[in-house]
Amino acid sequence: VLDFERYVKTRCDRLEHFLKQCLPQPSVHPRSARLYEALRYTVLDAGKRLRPLLVYATGEAMGVSLDKLDAPAAAIELIHCYSLIHDDLPAMDDDAIRRGKASCHKAFDEATAILAGDALQSLAFEILSNPRLNPAEPLQQVARIQILAKNSGMHGMVEGQILDMAYQDRSEPLAYPDLCEIHLKKTAALIEASVMCGMLNTPKTLENKHILALKSYARCLGLCFQIQDDILDAIGDEKTLRKKTGRDQEKNKATFPGYLGLEESGIQLLKLHQKALDHLAWMGPEAEALLALSKTFIRPFHFCPSSTTTLQ
Ligand code: IPE
Ligand code: IPE
Ligand code: MG
Ligand code: MG
Ligand code: MG
Repeated sequence: VLDFERYVKTRCDRLEHFLKQCLPQPSVHPRSARLYEALRYTVLDAGKRLRPLLVYATGEAMGVSLDKLDAPAAAIELIHCYSLIHDDLPAMDDDAIRRGKASCHKAFDEATAILAGDALQSLAFEILSNPRLNPAEPLQQVARIQILAKNSGMHGMVEGQILDMAYQDRSEPLAYPDLCEIHLKKTAALIEASVMCGMLNTPKTLENKHILALKSYARCLGLCFQIQDDILDAIGDEKTLRKKTGRDQEKNKATFPGYLGLEESGIQLLKLHQKALDHLAWMGPEAEALLALSKTFIRPFHFCPSSTTTLQ
């Protein structure tokens, strides 16, 4: 049986070690130390690490060796960190607390935060394109770069963020498909990239339907993750979440609780989560960590009537 706590700890330690290697010591560059401090402040020892854990768990389920997973795991976490720095800026969500401490622009300043985000984004692609750090077949290396570029860019996360911003300034009612589109792009796209990048380099020959199943799993899980984030913003505890709550309503954000109400959002969350797990049904015991991850990171809410029966 999998010792899941240990699994998470060992993979997170690996990731931390790898990330440290990629981030220069501020003292080595005294004149630009502020930037390097902001990078380390943002990236190291921070966050739940869902996306890198998904890279590892998917890759391992597909028989990919761990040393081939460090680079994509780190690259995706770096993109995620950049998105959080920019998401917190006054021009966007204007949030002062992130991961239990001052957000980057508060701890440093706006210019440093913008540049730190920029640097993290290019560092992600530098890592993926470095054969020493990303020892993959050249074609698969390019495929990873492409998936990450595409899913984080103007048709993926960045588009999701502009749709999120556009909605908050608008007064007309939101349609359900638009709400789903925002969440799929701003959050699920990067989660999908994590699963796809983990899968690449597999020594197994995967059938097309199984590749599609993994993709659908990731999209459902990503949508769940943002619905849960929305619900937690409405009713969660600031200490546990390590960020301010109640911000979505203040900013008139397009959210699931805002659209469906809390209880119905909880029900949708459960249904979608079950759908995500169903997409993994073809996998054997090798998917244990992936399943455990999905069940740990998405939790049923107490107010949801079927919460005790659906997920066991
Ligand atoms: C926060 O992501 C932003 C969303 C996309 C919901 P996480 O909840 O994964 O943030 P960290 O990495 O744990 O801080
Ligand atoms: C963030 O969504 C999505 C990205 C950063 C791409 P949110 O704005 O809801 O994330 P939090 O609540 O600030 O963590
Ligand atoms: Mg936001
Ligand atoms: Mg935000
Ligand atoms: Mg949120």
